[in-house]
Amino acid sequence: MHKPDERGYFGEFGGRWVPEVLVKPLADVEAAMSEAFADPSFWDEFHGLLSEYVGRPSPITTAKRFAQPRSATIVFKREDLNHTGAHKVNNTIGQALLAKRMGKTHLIAETGAGQHGVAVATIGAKLGLPVDVYMGAVDVERQALNVYVMRLLGATVHEVTGGTQTLKDATNEAFRVWASQCDDTFYVIGSVVGAHPYPFMVREFQRIIGDEVRVQCQGKFGRLPSDIIACVGGGSNAMGIFTAFIDDRNVNLWGVEAAGKGLNTPENAAALAAGSIGVLHGSRSYLLQTNEGQVRPTHSVSAGLDYPGVGPEHAFLKDSGRAKYVAVTDAEAIAAFKACASMEGIIPALESAHALAYAEKLAKERGEEALIVVNLSGRGDKDVTQIEKAEAEAMFTEAVPA
Ligand SMILES: Cc1ncc(COP(=O)(O)O)c(C=O)c1O
Repeated sequence: MHKPDERGYFGEFGGRWVPEVLVKPLADVEAAMSEAFADPSFWDEFHGLLSEYVGRPSPITTAKRFAQPRSATIVFKREDLNHTGAHKVNNTIGQALLAKRMGKTHLIAETGAGQHGVAVATIGAKLGLPVDVYMGAVDVERQALNVYVMRLLGATVHEVTGGTQTLKDATNEAFRVWASQCDDTFYVIGSVVGAHPYPFMVREFQRIIGDEVRVQCQGKFGRLPSDIIACVGGGSNAMGIFTAFIDDRNVNLWGVEAAGKGLNTPENAAALAAGSIGVLHGSRSYLLQTNEGQVRPTHSVSAGLDYPGVGPEHAFLKDSGRAKYVAVTDAEAIAAFKACASMEGIIPALESAHALAYAEKLAKERGEEALIVVNLSGRGDKDVTQIEKAEAEAMFTEAVPA
């Protein structure tokens, strides 16, 4: 198993860059995690809930029409079919079980697209743990459906109005709250970001995705994929599907970031493609920052990718060359969203649509032998109004003479 070193570093990335008040809570989480990971009964309970409650294993689907004009075979890993509609639920179940084991009585979380918040609210309801979710005001507006769902599930949603009012600010607020109530509260982080041990712990809960793909591809095609593609916000669905294949050098790993309105504009969220090394939310990684080291505002049409940082293990995979990172614009993602809906009968999350857009490009470059797996990290019900709005705005812009 690839692990960070004892200080929580993947090469030069990661670590625990936090105020003193969070040093002990993080050390407590690390100790509880190590003890739980060594206990088979913890994994039995985790895998039991994943199969009974989430509906795992999620299937793979060969996308015959989406791939038709191209030659490669494209396969979707269907995390959209999980209970709550995204990969986020795998990780939240793991962390909530750990919280219970530590005797914590309360969960807090940050959310961008709302899928992580919904997943935490869901498992909080199931385990009887009250949940507070922090969400930027911009995301509260663009992901209104998920806000309503979280409230139905009994969670309290706190609208964060500072900064750009998106995921970065929600995360700042959740860290601040955790620092003041860590005695009874567990902070359920939604991606492979934050201070050690979160990036490693979240990856271990998400690795189920790639472990299943390995078995499924061997069963259905008699071989491993040639390429694996996943979108990268913080990077949890990508690390989840990559981890099983890190040692298989013939399997190409592709992470797709949000190029927003273009990598040559400031309106993107591509930390690996357009960022530089710095510290954000407790770990050293690539992030979008000004020359003075201030975090710079980001943009993506997809709330779940609209984050200035990226998990430290991705920074390590980029610099070591093991994974390649590319970026896809809002317009390309929206086109892929529509193509997937109309050609495959699957409405993907806008986040996943970034991976789909790159799959279309890659399939054109690859020969018939290629077997490309795309991680469909979530379903797109939450994004339908956002797409409608983008279309209306585009029509308006087209209608106004230049
Ligand atoms: C469906 C979906 N996919 C992907 C992401 C991006 O997160 P990550 O990069 O951690 O997988 C999100 C985040 O909200 C999401 O909701």
